[in-house]
Formats: sequence, structure tokens, C-alpha cells
Amino acid sequence: MADKPSLRSSLLSFCLFTAALAKKMPYEFIVEQTNTYILPSLPYGYKELEPFIDEATVRVHHLGHHAAYTNKMNAAMQQWERENEIRETDSVVEKSILQILHRLDDVPEKYRSGIRNNGGGYVNHNLYWSVMSPNPNSDDREPINQLGKDMVENFGNFSNFKELFTKEALSLFGSGYVWLSRDINQNGKLVISKTTNQDSPFEDGFLPILVIDIWEHAYYIKHQNRRPKHVSDWWNLVDWSSVEELDKWWKGLNYLFHDEL
Ligand SMILES: [Fe+2]
Repeated sequence: MADKPSLRSSLLSFCLFTAALAKKMPYEFIVEQTNTYILPSLPYGYKELEPFIDEATVRVHHLGHHAAYTNKMNAAMQQWERENEIRETDSVVEKSILQILHRLDDVPEKYRSGIRNNGGGYVNHNLYWSVMSPNPNSDDREPINQLGKDMVENFGNFSNFKELFTKEALSLFGSGYVWLSRDINQNGKLVISKTTNQDSPFEDGFLPILVIDIWEHAYYIKHQNRRPKHVSDWWNLVDWSSVEELDKWWKGLNYLFHDEL
């Protein structure tokens, strides 16, 4: 007969179950209203994106680069709050970093580049981590459901979309990101766009549902200067059910489809 679980092990199991339920996707943090954001944990282990992205790259990308953007963004927001260069009724802690990035022109010039670069770095990475998942067997993955239909309507078929997106990723000069987004100003139409440095697509009224990071720090350890290899490997990791969840999440934030982010 199996031993009865001890009170301690039962309690531990309950805590782990509760923690799993409470675990948020990285993108969920970007709408919090605070001046102290946390580095989200990844929805997978550091080794689990192999063989497409190696453990060393994921570790330094998350614990080095993403953590640095988080800390510097918090420092800029806290300085802004402390120096009280905003109206009391328009406190920085009453806006999420997403809302702040959407209206960067409202940020006092003194803090604007710090918020653009580090706030953008925080948000962009939260989105990047959210739309990948392990795929050790290199299974074919394609979008289905409404997103799959919208993709056919917008791009003809999935292969065309993939080709166009890849072309943008390979032609972007310098460091940046390529995005698939819903365009608020075109009734949620799917659009492919690119941003440089840590600029975000929110400034253009786009709600991103898929993103690839093409800064060299995302692939240099494994692929050195071979960006095409990084892009072709990354396609294996795109998790279309996570992309669809993110798409639904944006739609759930109804106010986003009006003028105010
Ligand atoms: Fe990055």
C-alpha cells in the first residue's frame, strides 16, 4: 500500500499548484501601473529552447540584457516620479509602461530617451519570450483558428506571410525587431512592421502578437554573424497557440481599441 502523503508534502504540492496557477505570462506585466517592474520568469527553462536557441544565449539574454533594461527603466521612472516633473494628477504610477510608450511625447524630455530605450527594452523582451515554446522534435507549426483565417486573408497563405516576415528580418539594418501586429487604425488588420533599437510598435498604434528579436545578443553566441540561421531556427520555436492567446488578450483590453492605450 502506498504511503499516505505527509502534511508537509501535501502543503508543498498545494503551494506549487497555486504558484503554477498564479504564474503570469511575461506580456501581462506590461499593463501594470507601477514604477517598479519585475523581470518576469520565462515560461520555459533556459535549456528548453535548444537546439534552436542555446542555453547560454537564453541565460545572458534574460538575466543580463532583459534584467538590465528592467533595472534601468525602473531607475528612470523612479527618478521621474521623485523629481515630480509631472502633474500630481498624472502620476507616473497611474500609467503602465505600455501607456507611457504609446504617448512618449508626453514624457518630459529629460527622461524620454531613458524610457524609450529601457522601457522599450523591457516591453519588447516580455513579448518576445511570450510567443516561443520548446519544440525539440521540430514539429511543423502553423496558426489555425481565427488567426489562421486572418493570415490567409491578409497574406494569401502562411508561406507568403513567413516569406514576407523573414524578408523584413533579414533586411533590417542594425539592431531591432520585426513584428506581426493588429493595426488599431485599420480595424485590427494584420500588419508586418519593423522597429530599430528598442523602439516599440505601440507608437504607431500597433498591438503586437508576434515578434523576433534580431539584436545580435539574441544569437551571436551560437550563430555569430549568421542572422539568416537565427531567423530560420526561430521559426521552429514560434508557438502559435501563445500568439493566439496574446491576440485574444489584446482584444480583451477593450479600451485599447479606442484612442487611449
Ligand atoms: Fe534582446
